Amino acid sequence: MSGRLAGKVAVVTGGASGMGRATVERFLAEGAKVVIGDRNADAAAETLAALDAGDRLAFQPTDVAEEADIEALVGLATQRFGRLDVMFNNAGIGGAFGPIGETRVEEWDYSFAVLVRGVFLGMKHAGNVMKAQGEGGVILSTSSIAGMGGGAGPHAYSAAKAAVANLTRAVAGELAHHKIRVNAIAPGAIRTPLFHSGRAEKMEQIAAAKTPWHRLGEGADIAGTALYLASDDGEYVTGQVLVVDGGALALGPDFWGHGPDSLFTRKAGVNHGSTGEATEAREVET
Ligand SMILES: NC(=O)c1ccc[n+]([C@@H]2O[C@H](COP(=O)([O-])OP(=O)(O)OC[C@H]3O[C@@H](n4cnc5c(N)ncnc54)[C@H](O)[C@@H]3O)[C@@H](O)[C@H]2O)c1
Repeated sequence: MSGRLAGKVAVVTGGASGMGRATVERFLAEGAKVVIGDRNADAAAETLAALDAGDRLAFQPTDVAEEADIEALVGLATQRFGRLDVMFNNAGIGGAFGPIGETRVEEWDYSFAVLVRGVFLGMKHAGNVMKAQGEGGVILSTSSIAGMGGGAGPHAYSAAKAAVANLTRAVAGELAHHKIRVNAIAPGAIRTPLFHSGRAEKMEQIAAAKTPWHRLGEGADIAGTALYLASDDGEYVTGQVLVVDGGALALGPDFWGHGPDSLFTRKAGVNHGSTGEATEAREVET
């Protein structure tokens, strides 16, 4: 099997759906052997049938919040395929939502158990296997642009995704001398079952309007980024949180609008501030 991940073995949590599944598909196409760890056995069975990768793809029922499950997941990769090169801690949920004053402790704890403890456990056990192999490795985790500000997700989710980003930076420094690269991907709005749970059309419109690229991201956009970070092309990249959001975060508050209707697209000139000189402005072609 040829490809950019030929001979590599990868584990993808949350690989039965959404961007995890898209990444599994891409990794397989690039020659990897893959183990999916997911809580949804029905979705996993459907994914295994659809991807039709024979004995290069395996599934381990997994709750990423449970240490024994993560140990078994990593163990299946080494038992079935003989090694572990790439761990993608990607499984996730929306978690607790609603006003902070109404959030129950068990809702908060469940959110952090899946979104943060799950990533910690994946880093811990994959890192130990990779250290023992002595040939380096790659650990990826899914953060979010919701972890970089307050406006892109519920409070618990935002806090958890920020934790994933900083755990990534801290652990990257720790594992660098084992040649284990540790990076995270921070997606914007990606068209997956999770993003669409509830109000699909409305969410698509809002997200597309707030994204300079003017479309939702697709699972394949994340899969391509994961491939870059997992392959030798990413050899010198570690401790990074790579934003994949069609420019949404870069745009920031968007006070002036963007695209063809923005003031700054229709006019050019110079603003002299409070100097007493008038602003010079001219119409420009958009
Ligand atoms: N879709 C977006 O717009 C978006 C944006 C930023 C970040 N994310 C993050 O991307 C990751 C993937 O999400 P997605 O959008 O592909 O969602 P998805 O719902 O399509 O897929 C998530 C998968 O994770 C699995 N899962 C959930 N809890 C689990 C657990 N405890 N143990 C094992 N598996 C579990 C689900 O069964 C599912 O198969 C998540 O971490 C999510 O928070 C999504």
